[in-house]
Amino acid sequence: MDKFIIKGGNTLSGEVEISSAKNAVLPIIAATILSGDKCTILNCPMLLDVYVICDVLRSLGAKVEIESKNSTVNIDTSNLSDNKPCGDLVRKMRGSFLIMGAMISRFGSFKISLPGGCNIGTRPIDLHLKGFKALGAKVKIDHGYVQVSAEKLIGDKIYLDYPSVGATENIIMASVLAKGETIIENVAQEPEIGDLINFLNKMGAKVKGIGTDTLKVTGVEYLHGAKHRPIYDRIEAGTFMIAAGITRSKMKINGINHEHIKPVIAKLSEMGMDIQLYNNGLIIDGRNELKPIDIKTMPYPGFPTDMQPQMMSLLSCVLGTSVVTETIFENRFMHIAELKRMGANIKIDGRSAVIEGINKLTGAQVKATDLRAGAALILAGLESDGETEIVDIYHIDRGYSGIEKKLGLLGAEIKRVKDSSLDEELKVKNQ
Ligand code: EPU
Repeated sequence: MDKFIIKGGNTLSGEVEISSAKNAVLPIIAATILSGDKCTILNCPMLLDVYVICDVLRSLGAKVEIESKNSTVNIDTSNLSDNKPCGDLVRKMRGSFLIMGAMISRFGSFKISLPGGCNIGTRPIDLHLKGFKALGAKVKIDHGYVQVSAEKLIGDKIYLDYPSVGATENIIMASVLAKGETIIENVAQEPEIGDLINFLNKMGAKVKGIGTDTLKVTGVEYLHGAKHRPIYDRIEAGTFMIAAGITRSKMKINGINHEHIKPVIAKLSEMGMDIQLYNNGLIIDGRNELKPIDIKTMPYPGFPTDMQPQMMSLLSCVLGTSVVTETIFENRFMHIAELKRMGANIKIDGRSAVIEGINKLTGAQVKATDLRAGAALILAGLESDGETEIVDIYHIDRGYSGIEKKLGLLGAEIKRVKDSSLDEELKVKNQ
């Protein structure tokens, strides 16, 4: 198991390139199931989560070629089968439940391990199942598995009680080959959903309503293969913007759709950071004196929950009182205990965290409890006095492609260390 060692205090400078979005690529890879033809994903980020979903598809009989040198993934799902086991892989990553909509669309029935909760919340799938049922499917939950089956999915009107990202994606994938028209109301409007729809429409699907709260899907008989370059990762971009703020540095970030990152730009500008936009990126200057702010996470276009932990690191070292309220996940404050080990002054009050900013954090041994919590600890480490050691960084590898290399090129002192004693410990536990 690897860990990161960070020597804090360096000023960063230069340019960084943002990768494609993990949360766009995962549903797009799941969508390749819908066609028996070959699909190609260009500029695919080489991430742990991508490898896992590719393994899930392989376990179902797909041929997946990952060309890491040129970041291309070729997927051929012509020999896919619905009766191969992929339970362990699905349990490894919640995101693999995204194959359900596409599998029932193509095969009429599919059984998969029920995804559990995770460190950020219980994360039920009731809305996904509500959508499948509305399309005429039968849902059976038994011994930790969920089986969804339908002779033929038939379009209907579906109202989502909450604009869930995953449920919206799964229901879209279930309805593109359904008979007739499906109207999905109160859908999530995250840019990654628009990207999935663009990919599906390239495959021959008929989905309208990108960026609105209602989608209209007209079922088609067949989808063909397609080639796609996913959108930039707005959360990776936001993480580097905060890196500029927390290290009081100026840097250029290439690979940003400004529209997608509006709430982060708005909040960092409100704090006093200077942000200049250009075509495909921005120049961010965090050298001004920064002010405390209040943040509330909301579904898109509100402030993203996936940026909340990183913002908390920044606010921990901005003098004054800030309040961060998490409304999306009920347990996304695990990073607070770790930030406190680094000297942060944060109190939790229900779903809000009250942060009294201090002058400087101090390096410590900390643990990445989930992906974005891990990113927040890297950022805190960059600012801190002394050395920070972050363990369990496999969480970070799930969603950031070579983050230590990118930060290293900007001037950070961060190295990845293989901890063989941890590997031994894990071996013993698994025996
Ligand atoms: N929810 C339900 N019932 C459902 C589905 C969701 O109650 O059937 C609840 C969840 O428990 C949660 C809220 O709705 O409290 C939002 O969940 P949502 O379904 O929108 O999230 P998701 O699809 O599970 C995706 C991203 C997350 C991101 C959220 C919110 C992927 C693979 N994951 O998760 O990304 O935080 O949307 O924007 O797209 C990350 O990248 O670190 C990450 C966690």
